Amino acid sequence: MRTPFVAGNWKMNKTIAETRELVAAMKTGLSGVGGVEKVICPPFMALAEASELLKDSEIGLGAQNLHWEEKGAFTGEVAPGMVKELCGYVILGHSERRAYFGETDEIVNRKLLAAQKFDLTPIVCVGETLEQYESNQTRDVVMRQTGLGLKGVSAEFASRIVVAYEPVWAIGTGKASNGKEANAVVKDFIRPAIAELYGEQTAQAIRVLYGGSVTGANAAEFFSEPDIDGALVGGASLKVEDFVQIVTHSKA
Ligand code: 13P
Repeated sequence: MRTPFVAGNWKMNKTIAETRELVAAMKTGLSGVGGVEKVICPPFMALAEASELLKDSEIGLGAQNLHWEEKGAFTGEVAPGMVKELCGYVILGHSERRAYFGETDEIVNRKLLAAQKFDLTPIVCVGETLEQYESNQTRDVVMRQTGLGLKGVSAEFASRIVVAYEPVWAIGTGKASNGKEANAVVKDFIRPAIAELYGEQTAQAIRVLYGGSVTGANAAEFFSEPDIDGALVGGASLKVEDFVQIVTHSKA
């Protein structure tokens, strides 16, 4: 049995002061919602504050990115060891990083290896663009991103990886995919790509999330699908009521 997993990707939102407020509200809202691994991923600047506030809380903390090198002359970057001081999780290969910051599958893989070295649980994002979706390339894109992104880690670490299927056309558009279609991508493309690398047992053990315009209102549709184990939530993770509702639905 895979434990449900819901993560909130705050993206480039919330100052330290705003983080204080939102984390306090999340702690209250999520207290008592057990049986699901819940993680919030504020921006780097707010991680220290969030980590203080989340001490003694069941809510995990994640970063939205890291650099693969351990230290050195990489102006503006954040090393995995720095992330590890505050966080247990890290989002890797988000489509916004791929689209705006030139992240390739090879870069995502280097970052994954760094996450392994520093014992951070990675949430690796894969997903096709609208153009790729419309030209029936979903299978190729998602299998390639999964295969190249996830390769080369130990079998033990592999089963800890969380994959997020986020069709780019569904991100921030209000046009979510639907449960059946998203489940088919996870079942037919993502788990088989993992199985090719690490075998069927690991492919079945890994949590795979859906992301892209998830709300309190549509979350249950995705969670009722057998191969979807939770959600990576953007916009709705900034709204306490919505996020609590999503987390609550994920236990079903
Ligand atoms: P939205 O939930 O805002 O569509 O964003 C999804 C996402 O990109 C999470 O990483």
